[in-house]
Amino acid sequence: MAATNDLRIGIIGYGFMGRTHSNAYKQVPQFFDPPLRPVLKAVCGRDEANAKAFAERWGYESIETDWRKLIDRDDIDAVDICTPNNTHAEIAIAAAEAGKMVLCEKPLSMDLKQGQQMVDAIEKAGVPNTVWYNYRRVPAVSLAKQLIDEGRLGKIFHYRANFLQDWTISADLPQGGAALWRLDAAAAGSGVTGDLLAHCIDTALWLNGKIGDVCAMTETFIKERTHTLTGKVEKVGIDDACAFLCHFENGSLGLFESTRYARGHKALYTLEINGEHASIRWDLHDLHRLEYFDHRDDSIVRGWRSVHVTDGDMPYMKHWWVPGLQIGYEHTFIHQFADFLDCAAQGKPCPPTFRDALATQAVCDAVLDSAEQRKWEDVVPV
Ligand SMILES: NC(=O)c1ccc[n+]([C@@H]2O[C@H](COP(=O)([O-])OP(=O)(O)OC[C@H]3O[C@@H](n4cnc5c(N)ncnc54)[C@H](O)[C@@H]3O)[C@@H](O)[C@H]2O)c1
Repeated sequence: MAATNDLRIGIIGYGFMGRTHSNAYKQVPQFFDPPLRPVLKAVCGRDEANAKAFAERWGYESIETDWRKLIDRDDIDAVDICTPNNTHAEIAIAAAEAGKMVLCEKPLSMDLKQGQQMVDAIEKAGVPNTVWYNYRRVPAVSLAKQLIDEGRLGKIFHYRANFLQDWTISADLPQGGAALWRLDAAAAGSGVTGDLLAHCIDTALWLNGKIGDVCAMTETFIKERTHTLTGKVEKVGIDDACAFLCHFENGSLGLFESTRYARGHKALYTLEINGEHASIRWDLHDLHRLEYFDHRDDSIVRGWRSVHVTDGDMPYMKHWWVPGLQIGYEHTFIHQFADFLDCAAQGKPCPPTFRDALATQAVCDAVLDSAEQRKWEDVVPV
């Protein structure tokens, strides 16, 4: 019998994100005082032995090998989707129709049309929901939001973001199947645009508002790769690299770049915002620091400061150690889940909601369309 404040979770997928989310479920009650108590009820994966091993390691009470069975269960309140992108829509819509709360990995969907169907289902069901664009909850990025909202930057002129990796440069790397589904357009939808730029776009929409139009270019450097599932050499359908310009509705200009061919960079997500009074910049490889330059400082001490975001009055930090001691990547998921529990207790969606993630999807679609058409594209308002 569940206690009234239990939130019984069924997680689907036990890969990279299955682990980060499971860690969050276990850590939130230790460091926050959530109104709901997460109960790790079931993990679902197609391989029974792997699902059992995962359940044992993380403390899930049971396993399923078919996500439909998980959704049918009366003892599951929230479904967490940690599977490849081509599975999100079907699972999320079925879960919403069954009245479950839904936490979904990013990108929301394969394209805008599919994303709209997901938003329609989730909003019709009126269930709490969130999409795991976790970088919003890096304390330094949350602090950037606070500084912008306080007006410290003044009018914003430029927004610049990069997400650089180097793990697909070898032509011998196959596409498709476990671990390599990101290189298979049928499973991933797109390449770096949906996988990496979607994160940059979510943060940008949150920090700097709506994007009106975009002009993009994409490239697929390795045109054919062996497909793990068929064993045949097949055309590669994803974008290996993407860069785009955009206009934000607040009048600022955006410049975004992502690639998996930047030798030496593993997961270099950087952003910089230049305003009339001040600028900020942030770097995932040094995620606990926020760089800040304020032109209003006395000229003799004016310069870029590197703010170590560890004090208790900085976003989320009062829940952790003592000033000066930093936290890391896994905490972004812990923060998002803590916020989700607060929202879920009030029956509300938790930003970024499915609708917020649809706005990111609209930009991704416009970027891919622009690159294909070789012209500026308006972003469809959502
Ligand atoms: N928020 C982030 O920063 C972030 C980071 C990585 C991945 N992601 C997203 O998370 C999702 C999963 O990515 P990942 O890196 O964890 O992938 P992964 O390959 O490590 O894990 C995917 C899991 O899904 C399982 N799976 C696939 N099809 C399934 C099905 N039909 N039923 C049940 N299980 C199924 C696989 O067996 C595996 O356990 C993707 O949408 C990805 O874009 C988000």
